[in-house]
Amino acid sequence: MTRAQALKKAVQDLQRAGLAPALAVREAGDLLAHAIGLRRSDLYWEPDLALSAGEEEAFQGYVARRMAGEPLQYILGQWEFMGLTFAVDRRVLIPRPETEGLVMAVLQFLADWPGFPLVIDVGTGSGAIAVSLAVAHPQCRVLATDISGEALLVAKANARRHSVADRIEFRQGDLVMGSVPAAVVVANLPYVAAGDFQGLDPTVRDYEPAVALLGGERGTEVMERLIAIAPSGLAAEGLLALEVGEGQAAEIQAACLATGAFRDVAIRQDLAGRERIVLAYRTGEGACTRK
Ligand SMILES: C[S@@+](CC[C@H](N)C(=O)[O-])C[C@H]1O[C@@H](n2cnc3c(N)ncnc32)[C@H](O)[C@@H]1O
Repeated sequence: MTRAQALKKAVQDLQRAGLAPALAVREAGDLLAHAIGLRRSDLYWEPDLALSAGEEEAFQGYVARRMAGEPLQYILGQWEFMGLTFAVDRRVLIPRPETEGLVMAVLQFLADWPGFPLVIDVGTGSGAIAVSLAVAHPQCRVLATDISGEALLVAKANARRHSVADRIEFRQGDLVMGSVPAAVVVANLPYVAAGDFQGLDPTVRDYEPAVALLGGERGTEVMERLIAIAPSGLAAEGLLALEVGEGQAAEIQAACLATGAFRDVAIRQDLAGRERIVLAYRTGEGACTRK
């Protein structure tokens, strides 16, 4: 079978499995490039070249997995976030584009923070937030924590991949914070309500880790526990930056204000105009001094 024939058949198969035509073309190309070990843009130079038996078998396996509903990102074993390639597999949530807005908000805040700021990334998953912050801000140090030891293995590999492992410390546990006051506590914690779980897209529900999705009965419980402890981990004038689910921003804003530890709590929209980010600015009162 030639590359062109393999692609054509895969596009038909993926469409039969429910992918929209343009997406089927895109993903078939990604999967074939992955099977051959090429960049997708290099596929089209020699469309009549025959696949080796090994390439054909690998490609058919990938297409079958995709048709069964497995996310493309897990099959490729990597995904792009903030312009960097991250290893991803079923131990971690696939980094989402809306989380890039959270990273950008933190970077904007850090631009005015003197010295060598400490950032705590709670629920680091693949390390997408921690690693991209460390790459973009060469002075910052990061404490990246997660309840899942499996996720931390992926995050550590991503830190090494992007040569920032010497500035990121990893710790496992339930909402672990550091002992040193941080300039920023950033978190994209699980926010799906228990009752909404079954209604999630099966590609998400059946493949991504439940611990990365489920935020409690109401969905906001894990985040609310973090809001209660974050003020004691933040330096004066530090920032608590949270990604929230759709429809949760006002409730999370109110929870931050109720602590009395934040002077201002802003809601930011993502590029699609959805309120997905809450930024809470620590007062100086009762806070630790800057480190
Ligand atoms: C929505 S994922 C986000 C992963 C990554 N930060 C990102 O933005 O792609 C949530 C992460 O929080 C972790 N997590 C869930 N409950 C936690 C808890 N109580 N304490 C620490 N981490 C937790 C999960 O294991 C998962 O890696």
